[in-house]
Amino acid sequence: MGKVGERTLARAPRRLRVWAGMIALGLILLLAWDFIAHSLELGWQGLSRDLSGESRLYWPDAPVATVAIFAHMIGGAVITTLALVQLAGPVRRRWPVLHRWSGRVLVAAALLTGAAGLIYIGLRGTIGGLDMSVAFALYGICVMVAAGQAVRFARTGQFARHRRWGLRLAILALGSWIYRMQYALWFMATGGIWVESDFSGAFDLVNIWAFYVPYLIGLELWFRVEARRPEPVWTG
Ligand code: HEM
Repeated sequence: MGKVGERTLARAPRRLRVWAGMIALGLILLLAWDFIAHSLELGWQGLSRDLSGESRLYWPDAPVATVAIFAHMIGGAVITTLALVQLAGPVRRRWPVLHRWSGRVLVAAALLTGAAGLIYIGLRGTIGGLDMSVAFALYGICVMVAAGQAVRFARTGQFARHRRWGLRLAILALGSWIYRMQYALWFMATGGIWVESDFSGAFDLVNIWAFYVPYLIGLELWFRVEARRPEPVWTG
């Protein structure tokens, strides 16, 4: 076998990983699309017309809370989509300028989503009461911290740390969709036991944490596995 053939063979598993990664990202985008579109549409409706009587999140007498919650939906739709773009290795390698600009928009939208969500929680609380408010507020803080750290380490050229914070941000950005997916899967599996309309059921109380905490822990464990290897296991 010639040198070119050997090199091709050596690169095959990596190529396979890249393709598998791209297919997985495409699949997630497809699955998340309805939620992204719903979030964009509801966000825009809430900012552009009176939704009194149509949405319980619209408060005619509390314009700051109303603007915050609907603006956060638009920011949220942007970060759910751009997290997937940022994860695509070929995009990062072939179009670094696109990666940088998409990253800047992602960070700005993440800060907006987190801050607006926190403002709404501070002013109105959530439908699930204190438990949900605490879990969602911590989620918002995590989103903002991850966004800030990812951009900070990119600017100072600390790319290993930038990558780790970028991955944390991506997991968090997908969290809101994961929250709904876990409800959908739970309903498919059990018909919806331990789910209450006021979000006080056992499943509700687990899911307010389970849409982001276990995934963040899993990612940290993954980083530890990677640290024992000579090069990152997954670079997309
Ligand atoms: C990651 C992207 C996010 C997207 C796409 C998103 C989208 C949405 C959507 C569409 C709703 C309305 C649900 C409905 O139709 O009733 C909602 C509700 C809400 N979101 Fe987000 N969100 C995101 C992130 C966040 C973050 C980071 C926070 C916390 C700071 C947050 C806090 C809230 C709160 C407090 C509510 C209202 C809960 C209630 O019903 O009382 N969201 N979100």
